[in-house]
Amino acid sequence: VMPTVGTFPTSRQDIAGISIADLAAQFSTPTFVYDAAVIVERIEDLKAFDLVRYAQKACSNIAILELTRRHSVVVDAVSAGEIHRALAAGYQGGTNADGVHEIVYTADIFDADALDLVVEHDIHVNCGSPDMIDQLGARKSGAEITLRLNPGFGHGHSQKTNTGGQQSKHGIWYEQIEECKQRAAKHGITITGLHMHIGSGTDLEHLAQVCGAMEKAVREVGNTINTISAGGGLPVPYNAEQSYVNLDEYFSLWDSSRKNLESELGHPIKLEIEPGRYLAAESGNLVTEIRAVKEMGDNTFYLVDAGFNNLARPIMYGSYHPISVVTADGSDREDLDVVVGGPLCESGDIFTQEEGGFVSKRSLPKAKVGEFLVLECAGAYGSVMGSNYNSKPLAAEVMIAEGKAHLIRERQSYQDLMRGERLLG
Ligand code: LLP
Repeated sequence: VMPTVGTFPTSRQDIAGISIADLAAQFSTPTFVYDAAVIVERIEDLKAFDLVRYAQKACSNIAILELTRRHSVVVDAVSAGEIHRALAAGYQGGTNADGVHEIVYTADIFDADALDLVVEHDIHVNCGSPDMIDQLGARKSGAEITLRLNPGFGHGHSQKTNTGGQQSKHGIWYEQIEECKQRAAKHGITITGLHMHIGSGTDLEHLAQVCGAMEKAVREVGNTINTISAGGGLPVPYNAEQSYVNLDEYFSLWDSSRKNLESELGHPIKLEIEPGRYLAAESGNLVTEIRAVKEMGDNTFYLVDAGFNNLARPIMYGSYHPISVVTADGSDREDLDVVVGGPLCESGDIFTQEEGGFVSKRSLPKAKVGEFLVLECAGAYGSVMGSNYNSKPLAAEVMIAEGKAHLIRERQSYQDLMRGERLLG
């Protein structure tokens, strides 16, 4: 069943049944609050696929990874750090009892730490550059690998999230399959999987083009292939004009490609999907406190205690996030067109902006200093893209599960902030 596009109310009092004022009192602000039930629902939506591999780069808190693991979702790791997180959440290297690689390392390079970890924990590698085949082969002959192919085209919600075509650094160019087969053969490496990811936040039309490219590529590699991955990229609506893709339709396109390949190769092929945003985005809310309400000529600004150090998507891509105000008395208020910004000493620290940095206004309830404001749909590429700019500590993270709020990441302390720094002495 397709989730329907919700409405986006601009005033609210709770997250998953818990009062936002209570959450703020208990955990302070700014704090990311995740609703575990939303993640579980999104996992359920994808159960037609043989394997759902969570692209943890979207939101990699180990409590989130433990939740996905408990719901039979496997995981992708793009760095040594993400491999450590997967292991800490209980995922294992190698192949599990069902013959599944619980962790796959997907990247365009190995740094020294990543290569060491991959070898040490026998982690399956999805190679995004031909050089990775030789680097892995030198350490671990006889390995099985996946190739991440760049099919020569791509599409994303922003030019910055388009990962296909010759402008992109991602994946192995689709015309280099033969060369990769030779590199693999030299090391006794077998190519057992192919993977394509054309971009993040794209649409069905573009996603569907990948199936054809995948079929062609599998034929070129030959019958060692036992897994194909559709990559991630599934969009979620951030406002009423955007929508989900039709998942039934998306699955059938991939399923029919898979079936074609199964009958040509004469053996079963597993179909994986690798979503990040789709699982995490809607579960997450960034709870902030309004610290100033000020007039600048014709504009009213709500300045909150979170900035692009906490949620970088608006300044990076002009991304729209739904926003709501938590009125202290729960009253219905008249709406006002306002600009919402943060505390950073940089004029681009504005949540209501369009691509190119153009400031826009949002119609929100009239609010006062001390009331809370929630930046919604902030679960994916929110906390993980946080920084310490302006020496702001990273925000706390809280997960609500079965009606209870759990602290899953402490707010960074000021000692944490300077950890490792040294005076010349
Ligand atoms: N697989 C690969 C190989 C990827 O590169 C990505 C995202 C995904 C899966 C997951 O894509 P998703 O399902 O989340 O669309 N920071 C940007 C998004 C960058 C995505 C990078 N790669 C944003 O905030 O929109």
